[in-house]
Amino acid sequence: MQTFVKGKRVGYWLSEKKIKKLSFQTFVDMCRKQGIEMVQLDLSQPIEKQGPFDVIIHKLTDHIVDADQNVTESLLLVQGVQDYIGAHPETVILDPLPAIRTLLDRCKSYKLIHKLEECMQDDRICSPPFIVLKSECGTETLEQLQKHGITFPFICKTQVAHGITSHEMAIIFSEEDLKDIKPPCVIQSFINHNAVLYKVFVVGEAYNVVQRPSIRNFPSGPTDRRAISFNSHHVSKPESSSDLTCRDNMEGQYGEPNKDVIQKISRRLRQALGISLFGIDIIINNQTGQHAVIDINAFPGYEGVPKFFDDLLSHITSILQGQVSNGAACGHLRLNGIAQSPSVACGVHCGMLGNESSWLMDSEGIKKGPHQGLSCGGACMAPNFHQHGRSSLAAETSSQ
Ligand SMILES: Nc1ncnc2c1ncn2[C@@H]1O[C@H](COP(=O)(O)OP(=O)(O)OP(=O)(O)O)[C@@H](O)[C@H]1O
Ligand SMILES: [Mg+2]
Repeated sequence: MQTFVKGKRVGYWLSEKKIKKLSFQTFVDMCRKQGIEMVQLDLSQPIEKQGPFDVIIHKLTDHIVDADQNVTESLLLVQGVQDYIGAHPETVILDPLPAIRTLLDRCKSYKLIHKLEECMQDDRICSPPFIVLKSECGTETLEQLQKHGITFPFICKTQVAHGITSHEMAIIFSEEDLKDIKPPCVIQSFINHNAVLYKVFVVGEAYNVVQRPSIRNFPSGPTDRRAISFNSHHVSKPESSSDLTCRDNMEGQYGEPNKDVIQKISRRLRQALGISLFGIDIIINNQTGQHAVIDINAFPGYEGVPKFFDDLLSHITSILQGQVSNGAACGHLRLNGIAQSPSVACGVHCGMLGNESSWLMDSEGIKKGPHQGLSCGGACMAPNFHQHGRSSLAAETSSQ
């Protein structure tokens, strides 16, 4: 047992379904063996009475989405957590609620990834252009698509990235089918990627890459093919296999994502949002070989990551040891319960996104100081930031 973690208390809240799916009890037992007290939070009771907590781990996405829809029970639960966080700046939250809200909104997370790409200026990374469609397609929609560099075919996704309906999507091949698009939604260029998706599962400084099936290549430009509606869960699960995922017309560039690129993207996301537990979906453009980020998920399933609990335990241990603070092992500090960007943390201002930084965090509790924004320069890394990503490419073959 490591003495510095003895007596430390970690509160956790995950849905019963998630606890079961992850076999989270195994992790609870692992922590207890190390002397860490694991406390399952009862959100219907004041959290104050269940504390104190050094760390809180949670997946509150369902409740956050419901609270945003004004569902009273969820509003109260989320408010209870928010109040506890506000009253306990010393407690490390995995992960901060404002960051989770950013990831729950595809428009916000795509804007974030585009801004990060602008900062990184790395030719190896190029995520697809997108727009948000608020109302039915009209004559001006084609203009808008053109203006933003969106070409046929493109993919339509709901703006809210969580919940049953959020996985219903459509691929549109021609002007004719614009009328079938159901707003509000996010429209994103479809990138041919030889039907391979790479899911990057991040835990603090560690990450694992898992290969999954994905959508097949289509001819570029408008075609007379009718729109395809699909549920994303039938496309990129380990066992997914259908006409849509068939790999008989592969061409152009292949290859696994570059380690350095993955580390760069995940480090930037951790810096920008102060998160530790997230997934990045990456595809490789088969024409250019560039990496494209098409999705970022809060506390994903870590399916196919055999050492998830070891990584989580060592991340929590580092936090408890005081080596790293919050999800941002890369230099976030929590001041008054608010994750601060590294530019605040190290007192150096290395580039800001100006007013546009509002999409980084929602308004709750965030007051933007003169330095608060997104750090573009690597110079602001905290000295204790090390990259030791586990790059096991746990290739899961598609069942074709
Ligand atoms: N721009 C794109 N170009 C090509 N294929 C795409 C694109 N966006 C999404 N896809 C395909 O659609 C699938 C679902 O997309 P996305 O990851 O955005 O959905 P999701 O429902 O949020 O996924 P998750 O289950 O990871 O939450 C991807 O796994 C990929 O196969
Ligand atoms: Mg995805």
